[in-house]
Amino acid sequence: MKTPDKGVPVLDLRSDTVTRPTQEMRDAMFSAPVGDDVLGEDPTVNLLQDYAAHLCGVESALFVPSGTMANQIAIRTWCRNGDEALIAPETHVFFYEAGSAAGLSGVQLHPVPGADGDFDVMDFQRRIRPRHDPHFPLTRLLWIENTHNRGGGKIIGYDKMERLHRLGEQYDIPMHVDGARLVNAAVATGIPLDRWSRVCDSFSLCLSKGLGAPVGSLLLGSTVFIDRCRRPRKALGGGMRQAGIIAAAGLYALQHHIDRLAVDHRRASDLGRRLRAIPGLITPETVDTNILMIDLENDVPFGADELQRRLDEQGVKVFSVRERRIRVVFHLDLPENVVSLAENAFRQVMLSV
Ligand SMILES: Cc1ncc(COP(=O)(O)O)c(C=O)c1O
Repeated sequence: MKTPDKGVPVLDLRSDTVTRPTQEMRDAMFSAPVGDDVLGEDPTVNLLQDYAAHLCGVESALFVPSGTMANQIAIRTWCRNGDEALIAPETHVFFYEAGSAAGLSGVQLHPVPGADGDFDVMDFQRRIRPRHDPHFPLTRLLWIENTHNRGGGKIIGYDKMERLHRLGEQYDIPMHVDGARLVNAAVATGIPLDRWSRVCDSFSLCLSKGLGAPVGSLLLGSTVFIDRCRRPRKALGGGMRQAGIIAAAGLYALQHHIDRLAVDHRRASDLGRRLRAIPGLITPETVDTNILMIDLENDVPFGADELQRRLDEQGVKVFSVRERRIRVVFHLDLPENVVSLAENAFRQVMLSV
C-alpha cells in the first residue's frame, strides 16, 4: 500500500488492473526459460498456452499482450471487412476499444438492447440479417461479455449462454465471449471453465485483471480457430519474442490466484451491504463478483466526479463511471481490512453532505 504525504493509506479500488506482481510471481518471471515466441519456441509461453487450454477444456490457446488485442484478433479472425457482429449491450469492445473493430477490421458492431450487459436471446435472433438480401451486411458473429464490466461484474448465466450458442449454431454464426473476467464467473458460480467453454465457439481470458499478472491475455478455442488467430496477432503487432518472462506471471496466476477470487467477491458484496446503510448511497441487492457499482441518491448535492474527488482525499481511489455512479473493484493487492477502511472513507465523505 502506498502512503501519500498526509499519511493516509491509499486504497486503489479503481480497477483490478492496478495490481502489482507478488514476490512469488516475480520469482517465477525471473527464472522462466524463454525463447522466440514468434517462432513458437518460447517454452514458458507454450506451457502457459497448454496449461490454459487444458484448464478450459479446449484444444488450443494463444498468448496475446492485452484483452483489447484478444478482442480485436477474435473479431478479425471471425469476420471480414463489411461484416456485422451482434453484440451484447454496453460491452467493452463497443465502449472502450477506440473504435478499432471498425478502424482496424472494417466490422460494424450492432448492439442489442438491454441493461447492465444482460440481454434477451430473442433480441439477437431478431437482428440476424437475411443472407439473400444484398442490402444488408452479413451477420458473422455473436458477441457477449462475461462477467460484464459496465454491468458491475454481472454474470451472464450459463443457461443463457447456452441458448445463445444454440441460436448461433442454428444460423451457422459463431459466438465469442469476451471473458476478461470469465474466471470470476467460474469461481462465483462453481461452474468450471471447462463447462463454460462448451457454450461458446471462442473466448478470451485476461491474466492481468483479478488474477494479478502484470500483462497478458489468452484466446481460446479450437486449434483451427487459434491457428487462424496467429496472422491477425502478427498483423496487430502482438507477436512478442522472449515473452516467457511475462507468460510466467500468467502461468503463476492461473496456478495460484483463481480460488482467491472468492475473497474479492465476498468483499465487494460486504462493502455493498455496509454502504447501503449510509444515507445518500444506493448499492445493488446482490453483487455477483468483484465489481461494486454505487449510485448517489438524487438529493445528494454533488455527482460522481465530486464523490470520486472527496474519496481520493480520504485515500480511497475509485472511478466515476456515470454522472451519479462510481465503481469500486476488489483485487489481490489490497489489505485484509480493506472493507472497513473503505466503509470509513465513505462515511466521512457522506457525513459532510
Ligand atoms: C471486459 C473487458 N474486456 C477487455 C478489456 C481490455 O483489457 P486490456 O486493458 O488488457 O486491453 C477489459 C479491460 O478492462 C475489460 O474489462
